Amino acid sequence: MQAISSKTKGLSGVVDIPGDKSISHRALMFGALATGQTTVSGLLESEDVLNTKQVLNDLGVSIEKQGDVYVIEGVGLGGFRAPMSPLNCGNSGTSMRLLAGLIAGQQIGATLMGDESLSKRPMKRIMVPLSQMGANLDAKEGGKPPLSITPAPLKSIAYELPVASAQVKSCVLLAGLGVDGETTVIETEKSRDHTEKMLKAFGADIRVEEKDGQTHITIKGGASLSAQEVHVPADPSSAAFFMVAGLIVPRSEITLKNIMLNPTRTGLIDTLIEMGGDIEITDRMEKNGEEVGTITVKSSALKGVNVPALRAPSMIDEYPILSVAAACATGETVMNGIEELRVKETDRVAAMEAGLKACGVNVTSNESQMIVSGNKDAIKGNATITTHMDHRIAMSFFVLGLVAQDDITIDDISMIDTSFPTFIDQMVQIGADIETNFE
Ligand code: S3P
Repeated sequence: MQAISSKTKGLSGVVDIPGDKSISHRALMFGALATGQTTVSGLLESEDVLNTKQVLNDLGVSIEKQGDVYVIEGVGLGGFRAPMSPLNCGNSGTSMRLLAGLIAGQQIGATLMGDESLSKRPMKRIMVPLSQMGANLDAKEGGKPPLSITPAPLKSIAYELPVASAQVKSCVLLAGLGVDGETTVIETEKSRDHTEKMLKAFGADIRVEEKDGQTHITIKGGASLSAQEVHVPADPSSAAFFMVAGLIVPRSEITLKNIMLNPTRTGLIDTLIEMGGDIEITDRMEKNGEEVGTITVKSSALKGVNVPALRAPSMIDEYPILSVAAACATGETVMNGIEELRVKETDRVAAMEAGLKACGVNVTSNESQMIVSGNKDAIKGNATITTHMDHRIAMSFFVLGLVAQDDITIDDISMIDTSFPTFIDQMVQIGADIETNFE
């Protein structure tokens, strides 16, 4: 379904952002691996997370919703059932990469498949370390899904990540849970650390050490996990769209409550503050092992900045919406070290560049950089955006449409359901001018 986003006079209100996607996936997986009954409140009920739930169901795990809480009957290490048919991860790279590690570690035979977008994404990055551990894997040419796993005994390894990727790190650590001995993942750039923190909370024998400027994460296999009560905080990557909308739409003030402020996820907030964004964080507190807080944003005159490559892992999903903020800023914004954006749900550098140019924005890019020359008056709109089955591209151009001179049409809004099914309703509630009820 198409939708149109139009120039909006002002946005105001308090928004309840849904649960964090990364934590939701992990809560389901770790609950399934644990012994006993894990409860999860605030689970993100988006297609990606529900695909993880379905895959776990197909592996013999019962997960029921009781009131607002998901109840997982953990089967314990070694308790999974071999699935009867391929496991469908839909659009979700996190599901496929983490579940591949979990399944290989539990020595189960399975095939993981996905939609058209996921079928183009690289799995070699997990096949290399899993093969070193002894896993028996097969994929299409170039390491593309479907990914088949034939049961094989694994051994422990030490693996230095060639790219900053929490998905690869988590895959190896989950495989390491099913191995005798200690498996170590070495990171040069720190990626999101939810797997380490949550596995520790579930009772895993896992330690994190800083050595010579690198982070070593070591897990001891074989130790059983114990069921937990998980409360999922609000997703900063979803909040990002409301933050930028509040900054760029005139006469706006938006408050976002209970947003996770884990430092491995807050690169966008740092960047928007550097750009001159009026962002206030109050009620900071630790809740269930994560820092959370209330974020209030007000319309601001933004200026272009240079975003260092080192910051990329802490805002990897936020560059599409940052490029929208950059288009509204005065001067040039240079985003460095963004190669990984090219292997997300689509090549996000190419998709943002094409869409921004179609709307009148001056953008250039090379393999590792995107440079946006901001000028709010140049954002003409009057364009139809191709989203390439990518939810964050769709939501980013919705936000741009709120300040463009003429309407912006989004070619397909269905993929927004993969991470943020209530996005459009919540935008409309605070005053966004978005039309969706036409074909
Ligand atoms: C995620 C890690 C990131 C991110 C994705 C979620 C996770 O991917 O882009 O949306 O939950 O571990 P990479 O690990 O590939 O950078």
